[in-house]
Amino acid sequence: MTLQSTGTAAGSSEVAELGPWFHNLHLPGGLQTAPDHPLGDFPSFKWAEVGAALPEDLSGVRALDIGCNAGFYSFELAKRGASVVGIDHDPHYLQQAQWARGQLGLDDAVELRLMGVYDLARIEEQFDLVLFLGVLYHLRYPLLALDLVTSRVRGTLVLQTLTLPGDEQVTPPPDLPLEDRDRLLEAGWPTMAFVEHRMADDPTNWWLANAAAVEAMVRSTGLEIVDRPGHEMWVCRRAKPFEHQVEVDRATGQA
Ligand SMILES: C[S@@+](CC[C@H](N)C(=O)[O-])C[C@H]1O[C@@H](n2cnc3c(N)ncnc32)[C@H](O)[C@@H]1O
Repeated sequence: MTLQSTGTAAGSSEVAELGPWFHNLHLPGGLQTAPDHPLGDFPSFKWAEVGAALPEDLSGVRALDIGCNAGFYSFELAKRGASVVGIDHDPHYLQQAQWARGQLGLDDAVELRLMGVYDLARIEEQFDLVLFLGVLYHLRYPLLALDLVTSRVRGTLVLQTLTLPGDEQVTPPPDLPLEDRDRLLEAGWPTMAFVEHRMADDPTNWWLANAAAVEAMVRSTGLEIVDRPGHEMWVCRRAKPFEHQVEVDRATGQA
C-alpha cells in the first residue's frame, strides 16, 4: 500500500500499522488510508450517491451505521451534525475507526461499538437514520438480520447490497397456487442465489438477492422504498408496523 506523500510521517506509520484498510479515509494533512484501493476512491464515490439522498443538515439526528468498517460513513454523518453509533463485529476495522475518529476530532460525535448485526436483538434504541451498507450479502441469515435492522428504524434506512444481475420486477400475486410454481422462475421474481463456497475469494459472500427480492424483503419488514439513489442502493421509510416480532424473538432466543 502506498501512502499519500502529503501525510505526516507519524500518521503514515500508524496507517501502515493499522492496515489493511477497506475504506480510503481522507485524513487531515492529506493522509489517505487506502489510496490504491482497487475500486477507486472508495467509498467517497458511493457517499456522493448516499449523501445526495440525505439532508445536508443532520443536527439532532441519531444515526446507526451497521458494519461501519473504518468509519467512513459514520464520520460523514457526524460532519453533517448527526450523533452516530457505528457498529462492526470485526475488531480490526473497529480499531481503525477508533484511531481515525481521533484524527478527525469526532470522538464526541461518533460512538463505536464492537457488535454484530444479530446483537441488535438485544438493544432497545431506535434511530432516525440507519445505514446498512455492504453487509446483507455477507450474512447467513439475511432476512433475520433485515428484520432486526428495520426494527431499529424510526425514520430512514439506507440499504446497499451486492445483487444478482438484472433489474426486472415481477409484482407477486397476493396468492400463488401450487400449480403455478413456474412463475417462481420468471425473470424478476424475487430470488436469492446461495453461494456455497467462495465468491471473489471471500467465504462470507453467502447470498445474492436480485433487486426484486431486496425490495420484496424490505416491504415485508413494513418499510417502503422511497428512493434508489444509486446502483444496488435503496432509501426506505417505515410504512406500517413490523408484524413478525414473535418469530424474531424466537429466532434470537428472546422468547
Ligand atoms: C463490505 S464491508 C462494508 C463496509 C461499509 N459498510 C461500506 O459500505 O463501505 C462489510 C463490513 O460489515 C462488517 N460485517 C460483516 N458481517 C457483520 C455482522 N454480522 N455484524 C456486524 N458487522 C458485520 C464487516 O466487518 C465489514 O466491516
